[in-house]
Amino acid sequence: MDAFVVDGLAGEAVLSGTVVIEGAKNAVLPIMAAALVMDGETKLSNVPDIADVHSMISLLEGVGAYGTYAKGGTVSLRTQDARGTILDEALAKRLRASVLLTGAVLAKNGTVTFPHPGGCVLGSRPIDLFLDGFRKLGCSVSERSELYTVTADNGLSGGSVFFRVPSVTATETFMIAAVKANAPVTLENCAMEPEVVALADFLAKSGAVISGAGTPTIIIHPSHLEPPEEPFAIIPDRIEAGSFLILGALLGKSITIEDIRPDHLKALIESLRAMEVPVDIGQRTVTVSRPPTLRPIEIRTHEYPGFPTDLQAPMMILLTQVEGESSVIETIFDGRLNYVDDLVRMGADVRVWNPHKAIVKGPTPLKARDIDGPDIRAGLAFLLAAAVAVGQSRIGNAGLIDRGYAKIEEKLSGLGLNIKRVQ
Ligand code: EPU
Repeated sequence: MDAFVVDGLAGEAVLSGTVVIEGAKNAVLPIMAAALVMDGETKLSNVPDIADVHSMISLLEGVGAYGTYAKGGTVSLRTQDARGTILDEALAKRLRASVLLTGAVLAKNGTVTFPHPGGCVLGSRPIDLFLDGFRKLGCSVSERSELYTVTADNGLSGGSVFFRVPSVTATETFMIAAVKANAPVTLENCAMEPEVVALADFLAKSGAVISGAGTPTIIIHPSHLEPPEEPFAIIPDRIEAGSFLILGALLGKSITIEDIRPDHLKALIESLRAMEVPVDIGQRTVTVSRPPTLRPIEIRTHEYPGFPTDLQAPMMILLTQVEGESSVIETIFDGRLNYVDDLVRMGADVRVWNPHKAIVKGPTPLKARDIDGPDIRAGLAFLLAAAVAVGQSRIGNAGLIDRGYAKIEEKLSGLGLNIKRVQ
């Protein structure tokens, strides 16, 4: 697999320029899944050219849809003949977001067979919320040879599903499935992420009667859906944007992040301000730079609108450069501090107390190393660590970073970092 070779800046805040943010990975994937329940051609714009989008097209093609990605970020999906009911096992095991297709295939074709979805190893990633929810909507669920089959013989019944914990993809999966149910569906304790709201917007533009997205209770009335006439624009990626904001606080002389929704980044912006990072907010831009000293802080990940777990690892890199003791409490996933060992090998003073808590003491200079990113976000964090370090690092598993970040080496070199992709 490819790797990135990065010349560290030894903590010098010299990066400057503008970086344009792509459409959101975690918004486009559920919208692509939702396109499946319709007959006709769905067109999407502002779609990032990332590996996960191409995997989702392949998964859709595996059940009989036809999809294309055109340069410039448009996707077209033709789904009328998508009568397949079995998700490609190898692909579904690589991509957690494949689980989004379970609701769509079930709603369209009455049954779906799929493996336990794979994806980033962030700890245990169960699917009980999905299986319980399907049962509550009148489906039968069976498991054989590590494959699940969910069947709705007479269509999905209406009713209500209360999620034990707010899950982003479970909320989205049931929003998609519910548009074809026999009666209204009420979802409670829903995730409130902007990507959930974006999916509701897409469904509403396609004719769905749906209310409450962005609050804990979402109500979906069954309706006939047709793809919107105009291409549907994907919202900006708040995690890509947030990663560059953190880079700006770490090494920015002045970095402007463009084409974003600053209102989707409030928890990060408030945290950076509490650390005395200068953050200048425009309509669709944020400008950020490294302050003379960074103040310590406690970061506690939380469902939206709290601090995103997907920015926890990038933020940890910044905390290694802070004067004093900071703490990180990871409340969403139990394996999301596993990358810390490698960071410690680079010279960071981070002590992990338990799978959910780490104490960081700084500032510590980081030494260049050859390391592999374990998941998309920790991979990006290692690029930040390599950028601030002394010497040349090699960050392996570039393909993992490519799953979430388009043209990352181009964007970082555009800001003045010496980075290249090698085989
Ligand atoms: N959970 C269960 N049972 C389930 C499903 C989830 O216990 O059936 C738990 C999880 O173990 C976790 C919590 O619920 O403790 C919340 O996880 P959630 O289901 O919300 O995560 P997800 O839907 O699998 C999405 C993003 C992740 C992001 C999380 C949290 C997509 C495709 N993925 O995952 O993004 O970290 O929400 O915000 O939207 C990434 O982009 O790199 C990424 C991992």
